[in-house]
Amino acid sequence: MSKMNILIIGRGGREHAMAWKVAQSPLVTNVFVAPGNDGIAESFECVNINETDTENLIQFAKENNIHLTIVGPEVALMNGIVDEFQKHNLKIFGPLVAAAQIEGSKQFAKELMHKYHIPTAAFEVFENYNAAKQYLLAKGAPIVIKYDGLAAGKGVVVAMTIEEADQALQDMLLNDKFGKGKVVIEEFLSGPEFSLMAFVHGETILPLAIAQDHKRAFDGDQGPNTGGMGAYTPVSIVPNVAIEEAITTVMQPTAKAMVANGTPFTGILYGGLILTKEGPKVIEFNARFGDPETEVVLPKMKSDMIEVIMALLNGKTPEIEWYENAFLGVVLASKGYPEAFEKGVEIEGLKDRRIEGLNTLVFHCGTAKKEGKWVNNGGRVLFVVGEGKTLADARKNAYQTVENLSSSENLFYRTDIGWQSL
Ligand code: AMP
Ligand code: GLY
Repeated sequence: MSKMNILIIGRGGREHAMAWKVAQSPLVTNVFVAPGNDGIAESFECVNINETDTENLIQFAKENNIHLTIVGPEVALMNGIVDEFQKHNLKIFGPLVAAAQIEGSKQFAKELMHKYHIPTAAFEVFENYNAAKQYLLAKGAPIVIKYDGLAAGKGVVVAMTIEEADQALQDMLLNDKFGKGKVVIEEFLSGPEFSLMAFVHGETILPLAIAQDHKRAFDGDQGPNTGGMGAYTPVSIVPNVAIEEAITTVMQPTAKAMVANGTPFTGILYGGLILTKEGPKVIEFNARFGDPETEVVLPKMKSDMIEVIMALLNGKTPEIEWYENAFLGVVLASKGYPEAFEKGVEIEGLKDRRIEGLNTLVFHCGTAKKEGKWVNNGGRVLFVVGEGKTLADARKNAYQTVENLSSSENLFYRTDIGWQSL
């Protein structure tokens, strides 16, 4: 294979980790990230084109002889980047819009699972508030209310009481908090959650190491849902037999179901799963790499990601090799996140782009460089990953670096990442 130029689409910690991983491949010459961020730009060439500006991305890919484009965020997928690149004969790794519906429409995902007997919570879809309220009263609490559309992880309310659930229905169906849309009301499930991603091409799946995300803003899983406050791998609370079961009862059948449905999936299929007493069940699917799971799973991956993707796209089923070590990552977030927060505040301690020693990696999620100083430029600002022989060692390394960085008054982080598996 000749040397390749790679374009990564996106601007967060996930894309930083993707660029970092891809750059290690001996097959790769140049890695570009569009649009990236100032932190990513310290190590890779960032291109000032937005994720949804497909026309200019296509032009860039042609002019710069890009051999493969890998998509990070769902907005680009829903906007049809894969469909458009393919029309121009440009190689891209991600699902077509029709297949990305598995993430973009909860109704699509739920109906697919129902039709193909993929285990998930019982559910009903509503557009009308009164009908939804009737159903809620019949089912009782706890119960889960989900806005049917993209709400960046915030359109889900796990309601412990009828009042809370009713408030969510009013917000979503009467007050259009996330825009005009439908809601899915579903059965409350309990058990440890885990994220199982796989490289998928048609019916072929290559599962990745599982990770666990921490969605709530504060310690002890308190506070509002966020995009994710930390992640780690491996996840000892989920035994290997349960992972195998999830592959055979969820991931493999879903790839097959997508083909049978006429919407074959290519890209990263992300299963947000919960290990209930009856086995693993699906909470949600995403059509892309999870964030922040990717920032711990890619460091654990020993195989060359470009080699794996190219082999998969060529109809092969390569083996993926993994490092034995554990990886644990902590998000440093702007105070106020996931609600409003101040931007442009200096991040102290981040003088060098890489913190040396301690077996840590620092990925930039939302930083900017202003007059030579690092400032926050997003809700999630930095992602600090520690590596270690055990999860406890990885955790120690991650938090040592976090403590060096967190002197900034404007940042906060969870102190209990990994607690379920320690
Ligand atoms: P989602 O955006 O669908 O991943 O939901 C966000 C979070 O809400 C999940 O990570 C779970 O913690 C919780 N959740 C979603 N659906 C359910 C469910 N059916 N039962 C219990 N918790 C749920
Ligand atoms: N970490 C969950 C997500 O990427 O949606």
